[in-house]
Amino acid sequence: MMKSRLILLAVAVAGIGTYVAMAQEEAKPAGEVGGAKPFNNYGPHFTEDGEVLRPEGWRRWVYVGTPLTPDELNGGEANFREFHNTYIDPPSFDVFLQTGEFPNGTQLVKEMVLVGDTEASSGNGYFMGDFYGLELAVKDTERFKDEPGGWAYFSFGHTDFEHYAKTAKAFPSESCNSCHESSADTDFVFTQYYPVLRAAMPKHKAEAGTAAKAERAKMDAEALKAAMGAVGGKSEGVKHDEYSDKLFAWLKTGAYKKYKGESKVHESAAASSHGDVRIFVNDKLHASMQAGNSEHPVGSVAVKELYKDGSFIGWATAVKAKQGEKGHGWHWYENLNTENNDSPVVAGLGESKCAGCHSAGKDYIRVKKIE
Ligand code: HEC
Ligand code: HEC
Repeated sequence: MMKSRLILLAVAVAGIGTYVAMAQEEAKPAGEVGGAKPFNNYGPHFTEDGEVLRPEGWRRWVYVGTPLTPDELNGGEANFREFHNTYIDPPSFDVFLQTGEFPNGTQLVKEMVLVGDTEASSGNGYFMGDFYGLELAVKDTERFKDEPGGWAYFSFGHTDFEHYAKTAKAFPSESCNSCHESSADTDFVFTQYYPVLRAAMPKHKAEAGTAAKAERAKMDAEALKAAMGAVGGKSEGVKHDEYSDKLFAWLKTGAYKKYKGESKVHESAAASSHGDVRIFVNDKLHASMQAGNSEHPVGSVAVKELYKDGSFIGWATAVKAKQGEKGHGWHWYENLNTENNDSPVVAGLGESKCAGCHSAGKDYIRVKKIE
């Protein structure tokens, strides 16, 4: 492949000097523009065993925006503390401009850039340092027909750009896809953070999106109101925060201990934080789990007591509020404080911190069985 390109170049350019210069540029792993290929060859391209090739020349694509999640705003330790420069391949951008939709073959590249200086002659701020990592989202509803929305997610490494990998394997859906599905505004893409895409979206599409969002908020409020019934609270005028306050008050009463529950505290299978746990599920959820249903009914409730070093430290809960909405159909709540509800870890429908990992379960419930 590379050879034939070099031969073509040799034919195309008259002077041998130019040929040598181009050949040297080829030798760079990722080139000044993120690859040296001419920009009529956007891909995506795949290896025989289905890995995606790192795109070429993405810094010449259409730039859409730069989210930044600095350490200072993330408890001193952000997952990706760099700028996230994001680009879309130009042919797909053109389709988006016409239709407000992402066609098959769409590629969005996110290139991390380290925060460099924090002072310049223009003032104090965040100024870009060096490239540091590359991720890719590809939409193809045929190739990735088992992935929600046909989107697959890849990383070429969180490292300096000389060391980006040449190919990458798709992540499992629960690592990436589920969070994009539940939190991104437009077809798994975070257009809410990309002004260039928002400006490019046809007006009628943008309006339809806003209306759908408002409608969804209204439905969420109603669903939460109804779900309150399941945890024995009052159902009037319940909003998210208020809901979590009532949920907390209800948890404090210990009423859930009458549910079917695990006989003892045990180590959590979730590799992450929780330490030891004990799970309770209400009759509705228990019956549905027994029946092996692929979706649990509205009003299903799961409570997980959390323990650390033998002490009880808080609760995590999942309450099914809406049918047919995957992770967004569940209200997720976690509080590592048994005294008050001042700062729950999460509280809300479709919380991506929870729904992503839980998507590996049957309708988001991870525990297999409660006797
Ligand atoms: C907890 C939620 C969450 C998870 C999990 C997640 N992302 Fe994202 N992703 C985001 C958000 C929010 C943005 C936009 C803002 C930003 O970049 O900080 C984004 C943006 C992106 C983009 C730019 C295009 C777009 O869709 O907006 C790519 C590419 C991407 N993520 C790849 C990945 C990969 C690869 C993984 C899995 C290893 C992953 N993401 C997991 C939340 C998530
Ligand atoms: C890394 C994966 C992971 C994440 C993230 C996660 N959980 Fe879980 N969760 C599990 C596993 C695994 C179980 C099964 C019980 C166990 O071993 O802990 C579980 C069990 C539960 C249960 C009992 C019902 C069930 O699904 O089995 C609740 C309720 C729960 N988690 C709530 C939450 C909430 C709320 C969050 C977000 C703050 C969350 N979880 C984040 C993995 C995860």
